[in-house]
Amino acid sequence: MTSTQSTNITWHAGSIGRADRERLLGQKGVTVWLTGLSGSGKSTIAVAVEAALIRRGRCAYVLDGDNIRHGLNQNLGFSPEDRTENIRRIGEVAKLFTDAGMIVITSFISPYRADRDAVRALMDEGYFVEVLVDASLETCESRDVKGLYQKARAGEIPEFTGISAPYEPPLDPELVLDTNRESIEESTEKLLRLLDKRG
Ligand code: ADX
Repeated sequence: MTSTQSTNITWHAGSIGRADRERLLGQKGVTVWLTGLSGSGKSTIAVAVEAALIRRGRCAYVLDGDNIRHGLNQNLGFSPEDRTENIRRIGEVAKLFTDAGMIVITSFISPYRADRDAVRALMDEGYFVEVLVDASLETCESRDVKGLYQKARAGEIPEFTGISAPYEPPLDPELVLDTNRESIEESTEKLLRLLDKRG
């Protein structure tokens, strides 16, 4: 459901803007959008980057697929429509956090290009950084950290990304982290360097 149902509503602007909050925090807000297969390393990289940023005195916050599905999005499953709604809501949440001046790191499979592009379109230019966490299906399946690939192969999980549901990689991401080859430390460093470079 993406259409607006509310009527007779008016946007109310405050007297404090994003620039005021960024000055207060001494940082620029941004959404770092990690996308990739289950088991590609998104969550591990997200929490490592978050910890490194906090150690450097930055305000960072991870929004993670499995976690958000325990609360805000607990009413959503894995049909294409539900995944689209999942990403739409997270996009709106990430936009608010970014506007608050936070460095938001999101960790969702977000398999559909159009859904990710819609989130990018919500943000001002430069405030959305798309990162492909690139691991082959074979790599993810051999890791099978949560045992889900085995279940999906056995037909116990329908519409499982990479097995029975599609994954559309970004065509022009700001960064690719090849976790087939790179260690978590290397990927984390690469992402931190990109954030440093972009201020
Ligand atoms: S997304 O496709 O809508 O972006 P999201 O990142 O929120 O997915 O959740 C993915 C996590 O849910 C996976 O890491 C996995 O643990 C779990 N999961 C459960 N069922 C599925 C499924 N059918 N496809 C993919 N992931 C699933």
